[in-house]
Amino acid sequence: MMTKILLCIRPFLTTFSQTFPAAGADPTFLKSVKPNPMKLRTEKLSHFRFYWHDIISGPNPTVVNIIQPPANNKTTPTGFGMVNMIDDPLTEKPEAGSKLLGRAQGFYGQASQGEIGLLMAMNFVFSTGKYNGSTLTVLGRNPVFHKVREMPVIGGSGLFRFARGYVQASTHTLDMKTGDAVVEYNVHVLHY
Ligand SMILES: *[C@@H]1O[C@H](CO)[C@@H](O)[C@H](O)[C@H]1NC(C)=O
Ligand SMILES: *[C@@H]1O[C@H](CO)[C@@H](O)[C@H](O)[C@H]1NC(C)=O
Repeated sequence: MMTKILLCIRPFLTTFSQTFPAAGADPTFLKSVKPNPMKLRTEKLSHFRFYWHDIISGPNPTVVNIIQPPANNKTTPTGFGMVNMIDDPLTEKPEAGSKLLGRAQGFYGQASQGEIGLLMAMNFVFSTGKYNGSTLTVLGRNPVFHKVREMPVIGGSGLFRFARGYVQASTHTLDMKTGDAVVEYNVHVLHY
């Protein structure tokens, strides 16, 4: 019985030892890969323009204050330390009722002691057309009273994998009484 089994597996043993690489060639540390396994096409540059609505007033605000600066704020008349969380609509036109393209979700904080200068960290989550479900991530400095503020696009998901680029934000309308703002965003991104 034992001999029979040995006879059966011997051919395999020999084959195995023959195909195994010679001593010294380690088969585990090097493997060839296809040149373009993700089938990436040529990188392209896209330009998007939309309007970002930061709504503080009314029954359905899209901004909530999550951190208040400490009470001892004599040296920081700019509200240094304040942080707000946002879920702001992104629309095709400046009017709030115009076509909804997605939302800007994230937060901004007052990170400047000298002027109103926000640190913004937000994801643009698109909900229409072929970009539905894809996101772009913006992280940058926003001195809100400057005419044009530029912030980097540091990445993306879905159709925006590997994205990099920048946004330029310019205030369209600002209600000084309520703080409600509509900001035009021009986004340039390189992606595949
Ligand atoms: C200091 O903080 C308080 C409470 O947050 C606020 O009401 C006040 O306006 C702030 N003062 C200045 C000068 O920013
Ligand atoms: C976007 O995708 C979601 C989830 O897949 C889907 O429910 C929704 O209908 C899509 N919207 C549009 C406008 O295609």
